[in-house]
Amino acid sequence: MTSPERFAALWGSLSPIGQAGDDGGYLRHSWTDTDLVCREWFVEEALDRDLEVEIDRNGNLWAWWGEPEQEGAVVTGSHLDSVPHGGAYDGPLGVVSGLLAVDRLRERGVRPTRPIAVVVFTEEEGARFGVPCLGSRLMTGAFDAAAALRLRDRDGVWLADAIGRAGLDPDRLGPDPERLARIGAFVELHVEQGRALDHLNAPVGVASAIWPHGRYRFDFTGEGNHAGTTRMSDRHDPMLTLAHTVVATDEAARTHGAHATVGRVEAAPNATNAIAARASAWLDARAADGETLQKLVDSIRERAEKRARMDGTHVTMTAESITGEVGFTGEVSKLAALELGAPVLPTGAGHDAGVLSGHVDTAMLFVRNPTGISHAPQESASAVDCSIGVEKLTDLLARLCR
Ligand code: GLV
Ligand code: MN
Ligand code: MN
Ligand code: MN
Repeated sequence: MTSPERFAALWGSLSPIGQAGDDGGYLRHSWTDTDLVCREWFVEEALDRDLEVEIDRNGNLWAWWGEPEQEGAVVTGSHLDSVPHGGAYDGPLGVVSGLLAVDRLRERGVRPTRPIAVVVFTEEEGARFGVPCLGSRLMTGAFDAAAALRLRDRDGVWLADAIGRAGLDPDRLGPDPERLARIGAFVELHVEQGRALDHLNAPVGVASAIWPHGRYRFDFTGEGNHAGTTRMSDRHDPMLTLAHTVVATDEAARTHGAHATVGRVEAAPNATNAIAARASAWLDARAADGETLQKLVDSIRERAEKRARMDGTHVTMTAESITGEVGFTGEVSKLAALELGAPVLPTGAGHDAGVLSGHVDTAMLFVRNPTGISHAPQESASAVDCSIGVEKLTDLLARLCR
């Protein structure tokens, strides 16, 4: 068995890296020094296990047990990057569990007839360059390499420079169809990002679907002016239009039975005693089906435009990334639900598994999160549940690699 202590020992070797301050959260943005330390941690753990380590053209890390060139590989893993002040488990739990599952397969004497790999996908959160699941999207061709090279982080650093600094060649970014074709099955284990499993009293679940979702940028322009001398009737305040857009977002999400959030805003010049000249807001919108998602986003945009006319400001909306609905309906997912005797549940969160599922037979396992919180320091999972997750993952991989 993977005892809770054994899980905690490997977990404890990663968890000091990238703590964001004293709130217990993490700051592990892709290609930063912290991320490079996380990646080194993974490489060392893989080499300690005699796995063959490889970095692909898009910066995803692979640790192979068996021959990487052989067809039908069984792959598990997740990501190590985080949102700002994110929780410990979103991503790393799937990587740590993958490494421990390799240990367990060996201990059980499983002799795989196919190669097995643990993968770390790059920039899953899109927290640095804005596009979620960037590593898997580039690999599958779902995101264009030329568009990736036009991405900049909040400090103005080009993606090409960030990855170049880490030793990757920006000219080689892009689809990796041969690699993709060699993967026979992908399983991502992830902390649950809600409380469904807690309510069901189940330590582990299997994903049925991912809601379609998108990220949209609103840019508001108005007229910068003096906060003390400009009459209220003379203002063209983009922050006011932005604020009404945030309220419209909340109302539209409730009306459509969907989830929509403005979690990031910027104002320029961002001064207390000046009416802003420009402001930007980022909308994250998710719904159970694509039609509802479209209606939701259209209604928020229309309300933003209407309010801009009232305020004498201007607004534009740009879609930064859109992810269609994912149904985990393949054989691997069916096998997971059947074999593990675990409840099946949908999620509103995006994952590399969702990107891969269009190309590879894919399943996702969730581990219970007692707080139900994610993308925040209070995200949680007990070592007992995590060790059960490792055993379930091992069961599934053992079935798949025979
Ligand atoms: C990624 O975790 C997302 O769904 O935002
Ligand atoms: Mn994740
Ligand atoms: Mn996440
Ligand atoms: Mn995610």
